[in-house]
Amino acid sequence: MSVTERPAPGNGPGQESGAAAADQLRDRISADSLTTRRDYLRIVATVSGGLAVGGVGVAAGILHRHGDSESLPEPKKVTDRLAPGQSVAFRFPGDDDRAVAVRLGDGSLVGYSAVCTHLACGVLWREDRGPEGELYCPCHEGVFDARTGEVTAGPPPRPLPKIFLTEQADGSVWAVATARSGEPAKDALCRQFGDDHPLDAARLGCPGTARAAESRRT
Ligand code: FES
Repeated sequence: MSVTERPAPGNGPGQESGAAAADQLRDRISADSLTTRRDYLRIVATVSGGLAVGGVGVAAGILHRHGDSESLPEPKKVTDRLAPGQSVAFRFPGDDDRAVAVRLGDGSLVGYSAVCTHLACGVLWREDRGPEGELYCPCHEGVFDARTGEVTAGPPPRPLPKIFLTEQADGSVWAVATARSGEPAKDALCRQFGDDHPLDAARLGCPGTARAAESRRT
């Protein structure tokens, strides 16, 4: 993600953990709940409003790509808490998909694939570089903007694929969806909502979903 999220109500510290929390998040998505809808609308508004990703794909299919899933991935807990200026490495959506979550100085949460779009080296968070830190690839001095994932220096040809993050009331950070490198957030979410979440898709204005959602209501 890659986006700033406010905690969902009713999830105080100690009220959920591990698999139970994952089940609850998944159930919210499945039930097309108000909280989930608001979360995703916020994701779209935030990312479309200035944090949009750009570029397409990763080096001609040579490298494993993030965000190729056509359905919404299983939500995954990234960390119990993430303080400003800190980062955490995790795997999402698959166990082989390296990713990094960062809490920027203004409190925004951002998440990216940690696989450099040049030659797939690991991307690292460096808080001490630039006005708000940067994502850095040590192999060939590639640099990515921490807030957008866009390339700011070096040979990487495309921005980092984004990972959508959400924060719960207990401070835990979860990964909930992905975007391909350069894929607008709305397109990414619509693609992953697919036929499984027609109401969410309709509310986001995903193409061809309004009629399907209406028919499901009747
Ligand atoms: Fe990252 Fe070359 S592999 S800059």
